[in-house]
Amino acid sequence: MSEHISWSDELLVGVDAIDADHKALIGLMNAIFATATHGPAAINSAIGELTAYTKRHFTAEQEIMEQAGYDGLKAHVYEHEHLIFRLETMIERLMMIGVEGIDAELVALLRAWLVDHIMGFDKTFAAFLHQRA
Ligand SMILES: [Fe+2]
Ligand SMILES: [Fe+2]
Repeated sequence: MSEHISWSDELLVGVDAIDADHKALIGLMNAIFATATHGPAAINSAIGELTAYTKRHFTAEQEIMEQAGYDGLKAHVYEHEHLIFRLETMIERLMMIGVEGIDAELVALLRAWLVDHIMGFDKTFAAFLHQRA
């Protein structure tokens, strides 16, 4: 896997704690791409780290939304749960069929997670926050 996702300021949502998490998550995703040639155990542990950090980030993000009285909270929580489900499903398949079998799927999921979720769902929340400020 020769993929790499670069940080771009286009991904900034303007909430420091959330942006710091997103930057860290990109680092963890790139760690997965970097370990992909090091065998299933390495990639599995890298995905495990990403999953753990992702869960912490989602919880923190949802708390900020709750405190802000965000009306889109329910849909956002649902989307987070869906992404965790997809990550965990992929880890199971990774254990069964190996990294070669899920290569393209993994890259697609990580991109969907990162770019689409931040650019869509997270930015919509950021717009709500900034409008209120
Ligand atoms: Fe986020
Ligand atoms: Fe989010």
